[in-house]
Amino acid sequence: MGLLEGKIAIVTGAGRGIGRCHALTLAREGAAVLVNDAGTAITGGGQDAGPAAQVAAEIIAAGGHAIADTSDIGSWNAPKALVERALDEFGRLDIVVNNAGITLYDSIATESGENWQRVMDVNLTGTAALIHWAARYWESEGPQLGRAVVNTSSPAGTNPPPGAISYVVSKAGVAALTMAAATELCHLGVRVNALAPMARSRMSEAIPMLDKIMKVPESGLDRMAPENVSRLMFYLTSPACRFTGRVFGADGDRIYLFQSMSAEPGIDNGGKVWTQKALASALEAVPQRDASWMIAPNLHVQAGAPPQDVLDAFGRIARDEPVRVWAPIDRR
Ligand SMILES: NC(=O)c1ccc[n+]([C@@H]2O[C@H](COP(=O)([O-])OP(=O)(O)OC[C@H]3O[C@@H](n4cnc5c(N)ncnc54)[C@H](O)[C@@H]3O)[C@@H](O)[C@H]2O)c1
Repeated sequence: MGLLEGKIAIVTGAGRGIGRCHALTLAREGAAVLVNDAGTAITGGGQDAGPAAQVAAEIIAAGGHAIADTSDIGSWNAPKALVERALDEFGRLDIVVNNAGITLYDSIATESGENWQRVMDVNLTGTAALIHWAARYWESEGPQLGRAVVNTSSPAGTNPPPGAISYVVSKAGVAALTMAAATELCHLGVRVNALAPMARSRMSEAIPMLDKIMKVPESGLDRMAPENVSRLMFYLTSPACRFTGRVFGADGDRIYLFQSMSAEPGIDNGGKVWTQKALASALEAVPQRDASWMIAPNLHVQAGAPPQDVLDAFGRIARDEPVRVWAPIDRR
């Protein structure tokens, strides 16, 4: 008997990639799963069952319980129907896995506003709204143990690289949402954590800088298999988990916990207000860039920071020294 026997779960974006793996994992552990995915699949010249229906069928064929749902979760009201459907079909709701996400590549200067809105709608609003509608139900039932929410942030949200501005901001928002919702919902017995995954999928295979990392190794542990992320997701939903409000990463067999945006040791002015001159002089000794610019520990992907010669130029301007190099805009 699985650890989640009798539990009811919703997984969004569960037709493909990491979400599919999450849904199969929860079902294997005994949960009945509402498999949501708005994607459609066209095969053999005709319209085939979409990815949500395929995953639900796979679960049922293996002896589990599942229903498919093709809602687009990217608005405040749409996720309400997912909660209602889970309650109608299964009679309760214990686990919410917010996994659906999209990436659109714009910089802050090229962003159309339309792409920004769509990415926020799916990655952040949809995630917050599904927690909201689930929380409304949990509130109506009163406190109970064994409730869990697992959100999906990204290492790109915690250490933002350039070039996907809406994505990195939405995923940073998911990390903040996770921390705040964990505190707000703990009185109902709900644990809220987030994943910041790295795994082989349609999404990650489309990112050239991840090419090498995503390759299946000829031998040894396949570090980028989505199953590694789903094992962690399963822990976060299971009674064995003692965390709430934390963001977890998985890289093969290595689990890491992100720190919330931490503050560097401060400087003070001995109880006096700062003058501009004193402030500039005190800050002269502080490093201009964060010590770690990796997307995630051990993955050694440069997340992006202003190049050192540009930072040096800013330093010279601040000290009123001549600047010879000035090319910050084209550096990506
Ligand atoms: N793969 C990685 O390395 C990686 C890294 C960081 C974060 N993530 C995050 O993990 C999650 C899963 O990503 P993946 O890599 O499996 O991507 P994927 O593109 O393979 O799968 C995402 C699924 O979500 C579905 N979806 C998208 N928008 C939806 C919507 N509005 N409503 C319902 N379903 C929707 C898609 O149809 C797709 O099946 C995403 O939130 C992504 O941002 C992935």
